[in-house]
Amino acid sequence: MSELRQHIDEAVASIRARTQSNPRIGIILGTGLGGLAAEITREVEIDYGDVPHFPVSTVESHHGKLLFGTLAGKNVVAMQGRFHFYEGYSMQQITFPVRVMKFLGVDTLLISNAAGALNPLFRKGDVMLIVDHINLLGDNPLIGPNDETLGPRFPDMSEAYSRALLSMAEQVALDLKIGIRRGVYVAMSGPNLETRAEYRFLRFTGADAVGMSTIPENIVAVHMGMRVFGVSIMTDECFPDALKPVTLEEVIAVANTAEPKMTAIMKELVGRL
Ligand code: HPA
Repeated sequence: MSELRQHIDEAVASIRARTQSNPRIGIILGTGLGGLAAEITREVEIDYGDVPHFPVSTVESHHGKLLFGTLAGKNVVAMQGRFHFYEGYSMQQITFPVRVMKFLGVDTLLISNAAGALNPLFRKGDVMLIVDHINLLGDNPLIGPNDETLGPRFPDMSEAYSRALLSMAEQVALDLKIGIRRGVYVAMSGPNLETRAEYRFLRFTGADAVGMSTIPENIVAVHMGMRVFGVSIMTDECFPDALKPVTLEEVIAVANTAEPKMTAIMKELVGRL
């Protein structure tokens, strides 16, 4: 058995000692987007620090907890607080909780994040459903020996974001009368925001939004055969010829303002799964 698999099994055993909950839906909430967590009727909360091999969050705007409970009548497990590459965690550490979720029975992963808008038609506060991604993090969580009990050496990425979940979410948005965008998400390591030249370059790559997360979790989820749905909230406008300085406070403020739209879509989507 691989060391990774051993660590997963130990983490799962420790969680199983605290809850018998069998969620099939996993949720990872992004910066300033924790409001969905408040909608979860909680059964058990487990601090990351109490789960063997879990990394512990460092960014103050994140609370590190696994929330087990129900959302729209469905069993879910949510990560309140996620790990970023720029914090110094390895890709394996960042994605470890996704591996654990899979072994708890999760087959559908919903991810949110705050991102900068590269598409000039997008505006601050817009909600973008992620249709695909471009990994420019400069690393990959699958590098190293492959444990075949977890997934294949060369995972197919032709449907990194589930088409079925995307069309369900589009219908949800239509029914709730919430305007949405669709687009390609590109991830950079950060922690600095990008230069004008980089934003111009990122737009040329075909991306509509840029952030610093989500892709490692997506890759590991796809590796293990999970289906993934992702949403980005546009927190700033990354238009190279009209760029204004941005602060973390502004990013969080915009995320908080736009959050109810995303929370409504996610909740209704969960109800229809
Ligand atoms: N760049 C990278 N990540 C981000 C941005 C950005 O402009 N905005 C929010 N997350």
